[in-house]
Amino acid sequence: MSDAAEDLAQSTSDASLRRSIARSKEIEADIAVHPERYRMLTGDRPTGNLHLGHYFGSLRNRVRLQTAGVKTFIVVADYQVITDRDGTGPIRERVMGMLADYLAIGLDPERTTIFTHSAVPALNQLLLPFLALVTDAELRRNPTVKAELEATGDRPMSGLLLTYPVHQAADILFCKANLVPVGKDQLPHLEQTRVVARRFDERFGRATDKPVFPQAEALLSEAPIILGLDGQKMSKSRGNTIELGMDADTTAKLIKKAVTDSDRHITYDPAARPEVSNLLLLAGLALDRRPEDLADEIGDGGGGGLKKLLTEAVNELFAPIRAKRAELTADPGYLEEVLRAGNQIANDVADQTLSEVRQAMGMVY
Ligand code: TRP
Repeated sequence: MSDAAEDLAQSTSDASLRRSIARSKEIEADIAVHPERYRMLTGDRPTGNLHLGHYFGSLRNRVRLQTAGVKTFIVVADYQVITDRDGTGPIRERVMGMLADYLAIGLDPERTTIFTHSAVPALNQLLLPFLALVTDAELRRNPTVKAELEATGDRPMSGLLLTYPVHQAADILFCKANLVPVGKDQLPHLEQTRVVARRFDERFGRATDKPVFPQAEALLSEAPIILGLDGQKMSKSRGNTIELGMDADTTAKLIKKAVTDSDRHITYDPAARPEVSNLLLLAGLALDRRPEDLADEIGDGGGGGLKKLLTEAVNELFAPIRAKRAELTADPGYLEEVLRAGNQIANDVADQTLSEVRQAMGMVY
């Protein structure tokens, strides 16, 4: 989740958030019985390396859904990189690094299609008819876009930032996904996606009663809010997180610098002791244990004891992932092959959808 979008809870009304959470629970129950009913799309902007916040917040959930048998598409959203900055940065390294992260955590290219925006022209072309279906007032109201614009400081809004939720609708609809696992900052985009799908069928719908596009639903995960190692918002620029690809020594050094407090007796008390509690929470996630129990065990071991436990927990959890990642990055030809194959599948699917769209619009020449 982007830094800018994290304060979004307030702008998404509580009632609709509660509805989305309740609906997500129903969907989870249904997935257990009927995974074949779902097609999932999600993605990430390749602006940096994936870290433990991504891992606990969304990545491991994707693997779980893949294992449950849900057909999955993952977009490495390279066009989304330039919504709020001038250059693409070291984009190739980032895309390949992200792909290595995905495969290292257990996403399987035989079951999950991983692709990039820029390699799938028909997906991007959907943006044109979709833009005709939304008003500029709707675009300007999007609370996530507003928050993201604010986070860029005085930078003027680019046309791509204003319209990227519609581009994201194209990401979701090109493969007719009906399920999108996201954080709550992305809920306005999902609403926009449903509006686009509905309006497309109202305006250009075929004479049949079968809509071209499904109504995509959010799958909100119950991921706890994880802070950075300094107790501040987790962010790449603060250097307060641990990337999946970091080695064990770097991890130990970063955790050593983590902020704690002066009370040597460790307790789990998120309100009064946010930094210590956050480290306990992280260790709990890594070990699949309750943070309260870990606090009891550390007792008077102080910040040092807590950091030792956390370092071991993270390094142990990530050891196989890091080993796999190192193997993958040593074989760039394989990574390129996986991406080429994913892009090919995405192109076939997008061509098919675009052809239906052109037919619905009467644009077949
Ligand atoms: N905007 C999403 C993020 O920053 C990434 C993304 C791009 C995405 N396209 C998507 C997420 C489509 C869900 C569906 O995390």
